[in-house]
Amino acid sequence: MANVHEAVVRLVVALLLVTLLSGPICIFGKQSQSAMKFDRNGEFRILQVADMHYGHGKTTPCEDVLPGQVRGCSDLNTTAFLKRMILAFNPHLIVFTGDNIFGFDATDAASSMNAAFAPAVSANIPWVAILGNHDQESTLSREGVMKHIVGMKNTLSQLNPPEVHVIDGFGNYNLEIHGIEGSSFANKSVLNLYFLDSGDYSTVPSIPGYGWIKPSQQFWFQRTSMKLRRAYMNKPDAQKAPAPGLVYFHIPLPEYASFDSSNFTGVKQENISSPSVNSGFFTTMVEAGDVKAVFTGHDHVNDFCGELTGIHLCYAGGFGYHAYGKAGWARRARVVVASMEKTEKGGWGAVKSIKTWKHLDDEKLTTIEGQVLWSKSSVGDRRKKQIGHA
Ligand SMILES: *[C@@H]1O[C@H](CO)[C@@H](O)[C@H](O)[C@H]1NC(C)=O
Ligand SMILES: *[C@@H]1O[C@H](CO)[C@@H](O)[C@H](O)[C@H]1NC(C)=O
Ligand SMILES: *[C@@H]1O[C@H](CO)[C@@H](O)[C@H](O)[C@H]1NC(C)=O
Ligand SMILES: *[C@@H]1O[C@H](CO)[C@@H](O)[C@H](O)[C@H]1NC(C)=O
Repeated sequence: MANVHEAVVRLVVALLLVTLLSGPICIFGKQSQSAMKFDRNGEFRILQVADMHYGHGKTTPCEDVLPGQVRGCSDLNTTAFLKRMILAFNPHLIVFTGDNIFGFDATDAASSMNAAFAPAVSANIPWVAILGNHDQESTLSREGVMKHIVGMKNTLSQLNPPEVHVIDGFGNYNLEIHGIEGSSFANKSVLNLYFLDSGDYSTVPSIPGYGWIKPSQQFWFQRTSMKLRRAYMNKPDAQKAPAPGLVYFHIPLPEYASFDSSNFTGVKQENISSPSVNSGFFTTMVEAGDVKAVFTGHDHVNDFCGELTGIHLCYAGGFGYHAYGKAGWARRARVVVASMEKTEKGGWGAVKSIKTWKHLDDEKLTTIEGQVLWSKSSVGDRRKKQIGHA
């Protein structure tokens, strides 16, 4: 009996290995992030979905829609918007930047998450999620929520970086996006994505308000950025400057309050709900030197991008219908498109530009407020000018 059992186990293991090694499944393996690549047209497209606030689906009503829109409006409108965005924009990666579910109104966190992320899962597109301040308010802790996410299909999310033993929060990780297959950048990360847990609420009695990005997380970010810089600026094909980086988390930094309508693109219709203390993470990013833009959610009716000392600070604007919003002001999504340069010999080079715009949830998914966040020629030249400024 024992031998039969062993043979069966071996067969299963062998079959699993074959499946993992041969199937497209392996691009979703947690250790093989390097499989994320620019496409054959030299593009990498990211869809950001902020603040879905998902509840139970059909029975969870919409908030802040016009009186005539209340009837028949539910979480399913959020689902429909996500499906339409996936079809229209065809992202290579979907980033859910927290408050994915609205814990207070979700009686089972796991099933709310399954429903909220379902369009990404069934589209077979790699996706990642990070935590907001409401995700843990249902039946799972922050760790529990993040563990559930990491176990879902097609996600590249991680509970925390495997090489780090102590770090605050859950859902701190990075993704490397490599150059085009066959080009000299095929094995190099040409675009670095960082995801961090900005916490929920302060646990320090003398400090009121929201959580913040802790020193342990900043230290991990710093080391990761340095490691990526070294690899990129070393042989083969040593580059002169680090590859551009983009950072995603939920709660805006205090520096988001540095702008007004004279120097941002988009709108500010509510105050910046940052933590009441400054964690220094903005300065950490400026020092690291690779980050070109930061993307948060949290404040649903702010959707601007403004540039401070070479880093664009961007909101996505609220996506979800069960989240507060502004009646008559469309739910929206922010997208990012990074494009590669052609080399003199006609091959593909490094990243040439990073652009962003927003899509409104209207009949045509109207595009608004396109901006260039970074272009290669502007390296070291900290341009203030924003293209597409109204
Ligand atoms: C919500 O979805 C329903 C069903 O498709 C649609 O009739 C309604 O217009 C949508 N509401 C909003 C505010 O988009
Ligand atoms: C990238 O790595 C693969 C596998 O190790 C190798 O076959 C290929 O030649 C490398 N390409 C470049 C451009 O270095
Ligand atoms: C934006 O403009 C305001 C004045 O209208 C100024 O106080 C603020 O410092 C500017 N912000 C940046 C980041 O340039
Ligand atoms: C921001 O907060 C200030 C002071 O609390 C308040 O006067 C102002 O109306 C708020 N602005 C917005 C846009 O809500």
